[in-house]
Amino acid sequence: MATQTFSLPKAAARLDRLPPYGFELINRRIGQLTAAGADIIRLDMGSPDMPPPPPVIEMLQRSAQNPKSHGYGGYRGLPAFRKAVAAYYERRFGVQVDADKEVLPLIGSKEGIVNLALAFIDRGDAAIVPDLNYPAYTMGTLMAGGDVILMHLDPARNYEPDLDALREQPELRRAKLLWVNYPNNPTGATCDLALYEKLVAFCREHRLLLCSDNPYAEVVYDGYRAPSALQVEGALECTVEFMSLSKLYNMAGWRLGACLARREVIEALLTIKSNMDSGHFHPIYEAGALALNETPQSWIDARNAIYQARRDVLLAACPSIGLSPFKTSGSLYVWARVEEGDDVAYVQAALEQAHVSLTPGAMYGPAGKGYVRLSISVADERLQEAIARLKAWYSGRA
Ligand SMILES: Cc1ncc(COP(=O)(O)O)c(C=O)c1O
Repeated sequence: MATQTFSLPKAAARLDRLPPYGFELINRRIGQLTAAGADIIRLDMGSPDMPPPPPVIEMLQRSAQNPKSHGYGGYRGLPAFRKAVAAYYERRFGVQVDADKEVLPLIGSKEGIVNLALAFIDRGDAAIVPDLNYPAYTMGTLMAGGDVILMHLDPARNYEPDLDALREQPELRRAKLLWVNYPNNPTGATCDLALYEKLVAFCREHRLLLCSDNPYAEVVYDGYRAPSALQVEGALECTVEFMSLSKLYNMAGWRLGACLARREVIEALLTIKSNMDSGHFHPIYEAGALALNETPQSWIDARNAIYQARRDVLLAACPSIGLSPFKTSGSLYVWARVEEGDDVAYVQAALEQAHVSLTPGAMYGPAGKGYVRLSISVADERLQEAIARLKAWYSGRA
């Protein structure tokens, strides 16, 4: 590289509040190992390995052939997609929303999660974020200049928050948002409607917006059916729910999701978004609408049967690789306690010596220390190969 003679202006102080995204660091090391010829099996990311339903891809192709498909998509997205989201919520959860005023398409739910913080959090405000969490809740809050109040999730309580303990938290009065996510990333913990009833009551009492991040609602096993927070009577007054096609229809790379909330929340988010993006590509909305309207439940059930079998294979393997798993009926992950030593050391050794990449629990919050997360979104034979490598590595440790 040529010597640089120009000294760049200093980057914003905002960046100092943001630790590097955990996956960036993992990706960098995997890149180095791969460049050196290693074959790394990635059980770190929850990116579905199977394709979307074929008619969805056909619709994308058909729509892309249409000369009218290539203009700006509009800030509120395609009406047909909003309608499809509303119809899905009615069909699946019995929840009725106004497709024009109470649904907003997102460029993946991660985008909406971060932008919601920009819409609601000022310096001095806070968001309540579960410890353990999907990192975007924290990062969005920090980017907006706010502070994070961690809400402990205890494995002994099935990773449900202790709202009585939260009530005692002196910083609660600064909080505006309360984030929850079931089926949960990273633990896989699931919940029933009773938890959402308690959360809605709590949020009403403390004037909080309940932010229910629900991308794994259809990634479930053992006959479990995940509820929506919006099923609680009156929830729409104080709740925003995020849904995503990423895991629902194996469309993670397509970047399509939506949020459902009362009109004022949608308008606040739209004020940020309309200054930042200009909607999605028309064929993606059309294919997303078709996925929601026409994918039969049997397609979801068949996909989940494959995940469930992989989950069972991993659960069975855990004891022989020094892990105690937490058995759950949802999400794309197996969450397990490292029996000896520390999660970061375990993950590093598995990557360097077995060439299998996992994520350390500490990446999801302080309560994750001592745990690891293993993803089931890799093909069966790669999963078997990963387990064989981990077993050989673990049994051969000095
Ligand atoms: C809990 C949770 N929320 C949100 C997302 C973001 O999903 P997407 O942006 O693909 O819709 C993920 C992705 O892994 C997730 O695990």
